[in-house]
Amino acid sequence: MNFDLQAIRSQFPALAITDNGTRRIYFDNPGGTQVPVCVAEAITDCLLTKNSNLGAFFASSSDADVVVQSAREAMADFLNAPSAEEIIFGQNMTTITLHLSRSIGRLLRTGDEIILTQMDHDANVWPWVLLARDLDLKIRWLPFNTDSFEFDLDDLDNLLTDRTRLVCVGAASNLTGTINDVTAICARAREAGVLTYIDGVQAAPHVPIDVQEIGCDFYVCSAYKFFGPHQGILWGRREVLEQLEPYKVRPAPAELPWCFETGTQSHEGIAGIAATVDYFASIGRSMAQDHAGSWSHFSGRRQHVHAAMDLLFNYEKSLAIHLIEGLVGIDGINIQGIAAADAMYRRVPSVSFTHKNVPPDVIAAALAKQNIFVWSGHNYAVEVAKTLGIYDSGGVVRIGPVHYNSVAEIDEFLLTLVPILRA
Ligand SMILES: Cc1ncc(COP(=O)(O)O)c(C=O)c1O
Repeated sequence: MNFDLQAIRSQFPALAITDNGTRRIYFDNPGGTQVPVCVAEAITDCLLTKNSNLGAFFASSSDADVVVQSAREAMADFLNAPSAEEIIFGQNMTTITLHLSRSIGRLLRTGDEIILTQMDHDANVWPWVLLARDLDLKIRWLPFNTDSFEFDLDDLDNLLTDRTRLVCVGAASNLTGTINDVTAICARAREAGVLTYIDGVQAAPHVPIDVQEIGCDFYVCSAYKFFGPHQGILWGRREVLEQLEPYKVRPAPAELPWCFETGTQSHEGIAGIAATVDYFASIGRSMAQDHAGSWSHFSGRRQHVHAAMDLLFNYEKSLAIHLIEGLVGIDGINIQGIAAADAMYRRVPSVSFTHKNVPPDVIAAALAKQNIFVWSGHNYAVEVAKTLGIYDSGGVVRIGPVHYNSVAEIDEFLLTLVPILRA
């Protein structure tokens, strides 16, 4: 069986909600996705039958131990991590990054340099700027080309010096949608002996991830952006994690991965993460057999998940092409991202645009009145909006389809948009 949209949509109760008889169209997905029933059930089951703190002698605690361990194994499959012990859970990407940056900072000395990018969400910018302020480090900025919406990696070569210790870069932009070549970036950083911290929050809902192939040292993402609960996940390379001093309280375990998890985690959220990975695996098993061959070096769930992501990426590419073609045909619209139909493999389907007359928040509010959900503004991509010169004019309107959206929803959005822009 190939991609079956109805079979997918039927698993998401939120997609069937109506308000005063009007359907909802969810294009707010880069801000957070809806969840399938299996994820909500796993969360409920954890709360109702496995609700205990970890590591005790009694049954509910052993059950909770299994929940957390299973979720680590699931995320190791999702990211192709070498070991579940390298998977660290936390509240969200921002909190994890602020936390880990303190430990990473212990490796750095005054005058050391960190490379940040103008394409990144502030969660992979400001924690490092704060660290640089505290430790007297130097920040160097990797720009992006405002015509191509991509990095020129020669610029990275020019920024790397013998004082560079860390490169922080997003795998996909939450504003432009660009997929960055993090494998090439990490190769250059590795050659220079520099650590890499990859923000995978906007890549994880759309592309198969293989941290070993990417060659990074850290990869961080958030389950609520990929059909799961509000949870953050970090993969760290064991040799690097072992060099870090964990910021922890004394009785907390000193071993990986526990030493980087502060206090009691949301076990129910963690249960939901495992179910989210299993959701992708079920798509892989039932719909993505044609893609399994590309992942024959993996087996079991790891293979199914990666095959599923290939299938979903292909479908989403068709949505992105349709959306961009429609937007390009509307007078006064400027797409703030890659728009060429033959370059869709270099972007995720989150498409941001500005209009020559109508401000982004006015457009988003008018769409909301028609029950079409979109985000407007800079969406915390502060450096990106500043670089594009749209920070002070209200940022962008961002249309973010995912695999549960349809071409029909895009058409309805486009039909609704045109009169809003004329008003
Ligand atoms: C690219 C990117 N990085 C980081 C974040 C922050 O994620 P979290 O809400 O999990 O802290 C977001 C949230 O929108 C994002 O889009």
